[in-house]
Amino acid sequence: MRIPLIVGNWKMNTTVTEATRLVHEMLDRLDKIEGVEKVLCPPFISLVAIQELLKDSSVKLGTQNMHSEAKGAFTGEVSPLMLVGICEFVILGHSERRQYFGETDEIVNKKILAALRNGLKPILCVGEKLDENEAGKTEEIIARQINQGLSNVAPTPDMVIAYEPIWAIGTGKAANGEQAAATIKFIRNTLSKLWNENAAQDLRILYGGSVTGSNIGEFISQPEIDGALVGGASLKAEDFVSIVEQTAAIKRV
Ligand code: PGA
Repeated sequence: MRIPLIVGNWKMNTTVTEATRLVHEMLDRLDKIEGVEKVLCPPFISLVAIQELLKDSSVKLGTQNMHSEAKGAFTGEVSPLMLVGICEFVILGHSERRQYFGETDEIVNKKILAALRNGLKPILCVGEKLDENEAGKTEEIIARQINQGLSNVAPTPDMVIAYEPIWAIGTGKAANGEQAAATIKFIRNTLSKLWNENAAQDLRILYGGSVTGSNIGEFISQPEIDGALVGGASLKAEDFVSIVEQTAAIKRV
């Protein structure tokens, strides 16, 4: 039984004051929703303030990135050791990290291994670009991202994969539910070859890319899709709460 999961990725948005306000706006309602795991991923600088706000709630904390080394001369970076005890999840290999910061599958793999070693739950993001999609290369790209990203990673239920087609991120042009479910099924097959069938069945796989309160139902009603990684809509309290509420209602039946 895979527990549905909704993750809000705030990206490089919100000052500490704004982040705190946003949590205040949604926390009471989010906290009451049962049957869905809820995770907020604010910018690093707001993590400690938000940890305090979430401490007696059912809402969990994640981060959007981290370095793979425990410490050292890596100016500006944040290590897994610094995150332990503050957050539970860490988004890794997001397409914006791959695209703007040169993260390769090899770098992502090091980060995944480091997160797991430190008891953090990685959310590995995979997804194809528009031209790759149009050239029919989606499965090839995703298989590479999974196989290399999870190289030497022992089967574990303590991680999550998010399928985020790059052409759907921040564009308002979401994939449709059936397309997303088909690719997620492919991801689970790839995983069952890399790990084994049981481990692949236990792992949660999310859809991400222009998810809103208006289209979440289309994704979450697909049995293959275990939840969503939400960017823009997670910055609006009403929308994010509605996404979690609809997920709880649809997955309950
Ligand atoms: P979006 O972002 O919901 O704004 O498209 C999703 C993501 O990048 O995680």
